[in-house]
Amino acid sequence: MRGHVQEIAENSCDIGHLRLLHGYRNVEMQSDLRTEGAYLNARYRMTRPRSTFGRSQGTDVELEINQYGLGYARVEVNTASLGIRTRHFVLAAPLSEDEVVLRLALSVKRVEKPSMVHPLLAFAPRGLTTNLVARMGIKGFVADVMQDVPIWMHKTFVPTPALMQGDGPIGAYRRWTKQFYP
Ligand SMILES: [Fe+2]
Repeated sequence: MRGHVQEIAENSCDIGHLRLLHGYRNVEMQSDLRTEGAYLNARYRMTRPRSTFGRSQGTDVELEINQYGLGYARVEVNTASLGIRTRHFVLAAPLSEDEVVLRLALSVKRVEKPSMVHPLLAFAPRGLTTNLVARMGIKGFVADVMQDVPIWMHKTFVPTPALMQGDGPIGAYRRWTKQFYP
């Protein structure tokens, strides 16, 4: 697609869009943005609006973003109320100055208590439940990212954006990205 690796990674710091675009509620940063060389870390807590697993009133999730350079993010997601831990990989590779290939992958920690995922799974084998969580998880993950795609394809890069409270640590993120350019 048309886009840039820096803008895909910027999603992790763009707190405002999590509510407005993805519909998450109660978005809270759990710690300040932490950087160490090419590594960046951010931790959030939020409520997902619709649950993939049919719970009507949203699900609380904790998210830890581990960004290594501009092309590799590993996001650890803990959905404690359902006993689900997933690991989301966001892998962006530049093709040309304004084109990227974006690959997504997901791994799921073996589910120990299927009944926590859904009461109907009380007697389901753990392996089967883990598989089910993986299938629904990647669907939800792709659906989330597809909400960003039209914006990435049409946005214009503004080097000095007018930021306001609630936008997130975008300034700190932009300073961190400077190291990747000559
Ligand atoms: Fe996004």
